[in-house]
Amino acid sequence: MLNIALPKGRLGDQVYRLLAGAGYDCREAFDESRKLVFESEDRSVRYFLVKPSDVAIYVEHGAADIGIVGKDILLESRPDVYELMDLGLGRCRMCVAAKNGYVDQRDVTLRVATKFVNIAKRYYAGIGREIEIIHLNGSIELAPLLGLSDVIVDIVESGKTLKENDLSVRTEIFPISARFIANKASYQFKGAQVDEMVGRLKAAIEKEAGA
Ligand code: PRP
Repeated sequence: MLNIALPKGRLGDQVYRLLAGAGYDCREAFDESRKLVFESEDRSVRYFLVKPSDVAIYVEHGAADIGIVGKDILLESRPDVYELMDLGLGRCRMCVAAKNGYVDQRDVTLRVATKFVNIAKRYYAGIGREIEIIHLNGSIELAPLLGLSDVIVDIVESGKTLKENDLSVRTEIFPISARFIANKASYQFKGAQVDEMVGRLKAAIEKEAGA
């Protein structure tokens, strides 16, 4: 049996649709049930529904053989897994954003609010800028509005949250999309099944693109 960790929420809905298109039935994931584990009818695949930021943890530790996770999570936590495929879903961007009208003073320490502490530290180290990190867990856009930070490092998808809070993108750090990952040991033992799934997902994506 192949164990798959799937993200709940926004990205999840797109992922379940893609899996169904590739012939992997995870219908139950669509319904309103609170169950977190599902099996396919032929019992060849078991799905776990987990918090998007936890997918890579399940896969790295082998609790799941494979998983689908955003590139942002992979760059933040750098898990020791194989990244086998870009699914092209959940496209968005990691950005630096600030309040409209904010003027950066390069000689003072920049206060950066973010969920993505490692990404922010690496980015500012790369451009040689001194920062103070303010680690938040959500609603990051509030921080510059309340004077808690000068800028934020966060995900921008439609741009609506920034716009509605009088903020705008200052720099795009990198693009993000969902990736198919595998546990390294599982890939040795279940490589044929994993490769078959990658092949079927690729075919489903091409079919969708051509439709
Ligand atoms: C994410 C992100 C932004 C928002 C961007 O937050 O942190 O706040 O989505 O989307 P948009 O550009 O389409 O407006 P999420 O909804 O995951 O919730 P959070 O605030 O709890 O992090």
